[in-house]
Order: sequence, then C-alpha cells, then structure tokens
Amino acid sequence: MSSVTVETLWVEKYRPKTFDEIVDQEGVVEGLKNILKGDLKEMPHLLFSGPPGTGKTTLALVLARAIYGDEWRNYVLELNASDERGINVVREKVKVFSQYFTPTEETPFKLVILDEADMMTSEAQTALRRIMEIYSRTARFILICNYLNRIISPIQSRCAIFRFKRIPKELAIKHLETICKKEKLDCSKEVLEKIYDASTGDLRKSINILQSVASVSGGKPSITDVDKVIGKYIPSAINNIIDSLNKGDFNSAVSNLYDYKTATGIDGQEIIKVLLNALITRNELTPDIAEILAKYEYRLSEGAYEEVQLTAMLAELIKALKKT
Ligand SMILES: Nc1ncnc2c1ncn2[C@@H]1O[C@H](COP(=O)(O)OP(=O)(O)OP(=O)(O)O)[C@@H](O)[C@H]1O
Ligand SMILES: [Mg+2]
Repeated sequence: MSSVTVETLWVEKYRPKTFDEIVDQEGVVEGLKNILKGDLKEMPHLLFSGPPGTGKTTLALVLARAIYGDEWRNYVLELNASDERGINVVREKVKVFSQYFTPTEETPFKLVILDEADMMTSEAQTALRRIMEIYSRTARFILICNYLNRIISPIQSRCAIFRFKRIPKELAIKHLETICKKEKLDCSKEVLEKIYDASTGDLRKSINILQSVASVSGGKPSITDVDKVIGKYIPSAINNIIDSLNKGDFNSAVSNLYDYKTATGIDGQEIIKVLLNALITRNELTPDIAEILAKYEYRLSEGAYEEVQLTAMLAELIKALKKT
C-alpha cells in the first residue's frame, strides 16, 4: 500500500474553510463573526482554549481567510510554541514578520497564530506578553491552548477568550455521514457510533479512525473493523494512567487522570468507559477490575461527587492490580 500523504488525509481534505462548514462551536463562531462585523482595527488578541480536535486551529485559519481572502498566507505567521526552541525564536520571527508592514484600512494588522501556548513556561509567557505589546500596532495574536489554566493571567486578561467544546455525538456522527457519502462508504450508524465513542468528542480522531476503518474494510465497514482500528487509538494519557496504576504510583495516576479530564472535558462516567475499553484492548481487564469500574460508574450515575469517587477508584484499582 502506498503511504498516506497529507492531501489524502481526510482530516485535511475536509478541514473547513468557512464558518458555515464548522461543526458546532456556535458561541465561538458567533463571537468571531461579530468581531468581523465591527471595526477590524479594534480586534483584540484572541485566546482559543479547549480539547484537541475540536476546531481551534481550523477556526483561526477560517478567520484569517475571512479577513485577508485568498492572500491570507501573506499575512499569517503560524508558530508552534512547543516546536520553536524558546521564546527568542518567537520574538525573532514575529519581528521579521512585522517589519516593513504598513497597516491599511483593509489589512490593519498581520496575524500571528501561536499553537500550544500552554506548553510555554510562565517566564516565556511573560516575555510573550511583552512581545504582544511591542508589536500590537502591526500584529494581532491568536493563542491556542488545551488548558486555559496554564496561561498566565496577564495574558488571559489581554485576550478575548473563546472556549471550544467537545463535539457532541449527534453532530459528529452527522459530519461523519457527510464524509462517508462523499467517499462512497457504506457505514452503518452503529459503526459511526462506535467510532465516536472511541474518540471522546475529538473530531480529528473520529475522522482519522473512519479513514483507517475505510482502508481496512473495502467499502462496507463492520464493527470488527472498528475494533481492529481503535486498538491502536488508546489515548496516550489513558495508557499513562494504566501504566501508573500498574506501577502502584497513585499520585501519578491521579494527576494523569485529572490532566486528561481537563484536556478533554469529559465527565467521570465517560472516563470510566474509556478506561474500560482501554483495559479490554490491552488485555488487562480482570473480573475484579470490571467490578470496581462498574461500582464507581454507578455511584457517579447516582450523582456522587466526581473528584472524590474517581480518586477513590484509582486507589482501589491499585490494590486490585497488586493482587494480580
Ligand atoms: N468544529 C469542527 N468542524 C469541522 N471539522 C472539525 C472541527 N473540529 C475539528 N475538525 C476536523 O478535525 C481536524 C483537526 O481540527 P483542528 O486542527 O482545528 O483541531 P484543534 O482544535 O486545533 O486540535 P489541537 O488542540 O489538537 O490542535 C480538522 O482538519 C477538521 O477536519
Ligand atoms: Mg490545533
């Protein structure tokens, strides 16, 4: 089989170019449209925060297209805070990018999109804040992050904050159905639901799984095809939780679990489902563990306090694993 190129990746092929194509995120879309309706010169810096695969980078680019039209690439600098070695590289690139630019009525600023801003240390963020101020005449920033609470408050207070949500099941499945139609793929609702359940509202992941399933199935994917594919898709955070449990490292299991919870925004009952699926895939589910998961899932369904229950569940899982 030939290797998959970027153009043949469905996530890229079906990446929205306009606001109308965006699935969900209504609050964000409306807020951005309002900014465009107003005096563009007044546009503040923006801070996009939310779980992976929910449209943050996509909407930053949609906004750029809406402002600059087909020429948008000439006005946009995309940086990745975690790739670029240090804040000095960011400063240098922004400087070169903003040089010789004269703001006009139609293009009152250039746009710097800084992905993974929450991966920067707070010292680097303080420096970033200064860079944002120095270049504010010629540049607006769109900062993108998964965890808003990892962005220092002086930056938060200088940005308009947009919160992205996980894509709800119904809308995600509708989107997958549209893709299936275009790709002439005969996918049952059951298959699509299973794909959604494995991706916890991350649309990128849903589309990637769908594409993998399509490639192993020959036109009419079955549930077994999905199982085969999702085995490879256990989120690394979930693997980390299970690894910590196996090592008996309670603290790291707890912090991994809460990191995952904040990053994805999923609730306790769903986390238990994801854990269950991951354990099945890893072939590590024992009757004891299944009972523990069921017990805490039930307590949460009855409205018990999530943090207390999930923490106690991890403690009990460690004990059970020690016995195996
Ligand atoms: N709201 C959405 N509407 C339509 N497609 C979406 C949406 N969110 C994600 N996608 C699909 O998933 C792909 C990845 O989305 P995007 O790069 O915007 O995610 P992200 O929120 O920036 O994630 P990350 O935090 O991992 O960078 C897009 O190319 C698109 O195919
Ligand atoms: Mg992104």
